[in-house]
Amino acid sequence: MQVAVLLLLVAALCSATLALDNGEMRVPPMGWLAWERFRCDLDCEHDPKNCISENLFIDMADRLAEDGWRELGYVYVNIDDCWSSMKRDEKGRLQADPKRFPRGIKELARYMHARGLKLGLYGDMGTHTCGGYPGTTLDNIDLDAQTFADWEVDMFKFDGCYSNATEQEQGYPLMSKALNATGRPIGYSCSWPAYQGGLPPKVNYTELGQICNLWRNYGDIQDSWDSVLNIINWFFENQDVLAPAAGPGKWNDPDMLIVGDFGLSVDQSRAQMALWAIMAAPLFMSNDLRTISSGARTILQNKMAIIINQDPMGVQGRRLVKEKIGIDVFWRPLSKNASALVFFSRRTDMPYRYQTSLSKLNYTAGSYEIYDVFTGKSMTLKDSAPFVVSVNPTGVVMWHVSAPAKWNPRHFYKGGRRQGPAFDGGEENAVPPVFL
Ligand code: GLA
Repeated sequence: MQVAVLLLLVAALCSATLALDNGEMRVPPMGWLAWERFRCDLDCEHDPKNCISENLFIDMADRLAEDGWRELGYVYVNIDDCWSSMKRDEKGRLQADPKRFPRGIKELARYMHARGLKLGLYGDMGTHTCGGYPGTTLDNIDLDAQTFADWEVDMFKFDGCYSNATEQEQGYPLMSKALNATGRPIGYSCSWPAYQGGLPPKVNYTELGQICNLWRNYGDIQDSWDSVLNIINWFFENQDVLAPAAGPGKWNDPDMLIVGDFGLSVDQSRAQMALWAIMAAPLFMSNDLRTISSGARTILQNKMAIIINQDPMGVQGRRLVKEKIGIDVFWRPLSKNASALVFFSRRTDMPYRYQTSLSKLNYTAGSYEIYDVFTGKSMTLKDSAPFVVSVNPTGVVMWHVSAPAKWNPRHFYKGGRRQGPAFDGGEENAVPPVFL
């Protein structure tokens, strides 16, 4: 494990120097993004609360600022497709739809900034956006980048509908240069790899790390567990290609969090949150923060899950084990010698009692402080001590594991009652303890 951590550190340090040099997004960006939940709802007459208009983004900004999200790091409010007018203005610039965004994008950006938030905007490398709005062809790149900077936009997602591979190969790096040339720090999200199958040789992750802060590798998320599982499978099947590509300032983006919508159970919501944290994924929620349930909010506002996601070392985690019985174990190294573990069940029968030990999961000898992210319970665990986790169907158990702790009786005895699993030598053959 130590050698592995060292190698990862070296890899992280080397790659850090290769990241897009705009100083942005040294940890995965967090915020809210309209697309999955609100799509291209244009019917402001009959559906004023949900249509793509400045009111929707103002509502979400108010919720982020007032309901404890901003303090946890959820600061981006991101507009997606369908925001613009169907026509460029007389100077050839993109312009917001005047009916739905009467105050314009710049005013919206200022609204965000006044509340300690940031504004993200969407465009498309091609003749049209995926929703059929004006795109950014190669000849418009400089003008559009300057327009976004003039509007004080903080992040830009560059989609790839209606362009071919050759145009994309030119357009994505040109937009990176054009954004940098404006002098305004603008986080740059590239959908390029998703349009090229997400894998080498068509996708060059070294280059992406040099020009983009984050990139969509794969298809769009939908409001269902099937969709989340499909994304999880693809990202971890390709972890040997994807994990080395990520680091401070350059992130793989498995797409939005759908926790708080209609498709996921509580266990599946925890699973999405846990695995997005393991993947060092951007955390963009696409949900309705005005009506979100307290259960979903608790999961999205879980402090330890966020700390794990935002770890400054920025190493993307991996799947360590894929058991035939339907349990996967994921691991992410964290700064200060800590790490995160996720036990995930693909089963559909009942909670599965999975037995393993930290040494089986490559941990070096010692005792570790375990903090269960979703129950808030902690215990001390020796590397060799067998333990059992009970993992719900399509759910997770997530642990934060801190560096080998020195013997500290206070960690072990509470109110005179012994806590946690077998600790001393000689007890290793005892019945494995259950961690609830
Ligand atoms: C593509 C993108 C989505 C969203 C839509 C908008 O499908 O992948 O994330 O931006 O376009 O039309």
